[in-house]
Amino acid sequence: MYDWTDRTVLVTGGASFIGSHLVDALVERGAQVRVVDNLSSGRAENLATHLASGAIDFHEGDLLDAAVTDAATAGVDVVFHNAADHGGRGYIDLHQVNCSTNMILDGMVFRAAERAGAQKVVFASSGCVYPEHLQTDPDEILYLTEDLVGPPYAADNLYGWAKLMAEMTLRAYCAEGRLAAASVRYFTAYGPRCPESHAVMAMMGRAMVGQNPFEIWGTGEQIRNWTHVDDIVEGTIRAAERVDDGSAINIGTMERTKVVDCAREVLAYMGKDADFVFDPSKPTGPYNRVCDLRLCHEKLGWTPEIEFKDGLRSTIDWYLENNDVDEVRRTLGHTLTERRHA
Ligand SMILES: NC(=O)c1ccc[n+]([C@@H]2O[C@H](COP(=O)([O-])OP(=O)(O)OC[C@H]3O[C@@H](n4cnc5c(N)ncnc54)[C@H](O)[C@@H]3O)[C@@H](O)[C@H]2O)c1
Repeated sequence: MYDWTDRTVLVTGGASFIGSHLVDALVERGAQVRVVDNLSSGRAENLATHLASGAIDFHEGDLLDAAVTDAATAGVDVVFHNAADHGGRGYIDLHQVNCSTNMILDGMVFRAAERAGAQKVVFASSGCVYPEHLQTDPDEILYLTEDLVGPPYAADNLYGWAKLMAEMTLRAYCAEGRLAAASVRYFTAYGPRCPESHAVMAMMGRAMVGQNPFEIWGTGEQIRNWTHVDDIVEGTIRAAERVDDGSAINIGTMERTKVVDCAREVLAYMGKDADFVFDPSKPTGPYNRVCDLRLCHEKLGWTPEIEFKDGLRSTIDWYLENNDVDEVRRTLGHTLTERRHA
């Protein structure tokens, strides 16, 4: 059993949706956790308990500033690199230049980690590294295996290319014996603290304000494998414990859920009824994105466990408890495509 007690870890972007859950899990395992986040989309309130108890060492700072990156990595054993210019589909399709800055950010964090003598870097990668042309037919039963990312590369817009460049960079660090590393390819994460720029949370927002007709971006036939943040976090920590060679591993479920079916489930659980209106002109993403888990099982000795129906319901419960209908009505137009809070 890997012992996190007294290990010093850095979580970049640790105030974010996924980052803050990762911080929770690392604190629980006894690690000394440092968080550096510029709060561009992260929220200090996601870390409120730890800030109040003094359980973490939090620094607000921009990791694109080399002095901040150097200070962030000093004395750290493991770097969990989660910071990114990122949002849901509505954000990454419409803000390509911003997402391209991740290539700089990732390179800076990896270089600083090596210089600081960190033992390991774990990188938050994405299903967006997979070739888009493989993911066009929602009727095809396709499970993306890690080896489908290879020449000729064809990532999902600049956000995906940046993730791919970072994975390749880390593999080069490992091949040259300069760092130990793992990349974890997250697939369509959801759960408490997830913002509405992600489709499933947008659906909760639309249902909460009683939108009718209920807008769905794309034809609704898109297939996703929504993955609960607790599974994302478990897979990330297991990768830190077990992978050294820079391998990239899928962290997602193999459940195939249509966007329109997800919307039906959200409305039913929230006790709402609405007609659907489909808008394929809006950011939609690939039509068939579900991962394979053989490598995850082989390398991590585990696969994601939370069924979508269960995770969705508990996330809706969280959303209803933590959001005010008037506030959602005021901000929803903004939060669907932006990462900063309205
Ligand atoms: N949410 C998903 O479905 C998903 C899927 C695949 C990959 N990912 C990746 O997982 C990671 C976490 O994503 P998330 O959904 O929790 O939310 P997020 O993308 O909002 O998290 C990024 C965090 O990094 C911080 N940040 C951004 N630029 C920074 C900088 N220059 N310096 C310091 N901090 C900075 C933000 O404030 C935020 O807290 C990201 O790398 C993202 O690309 C997420």
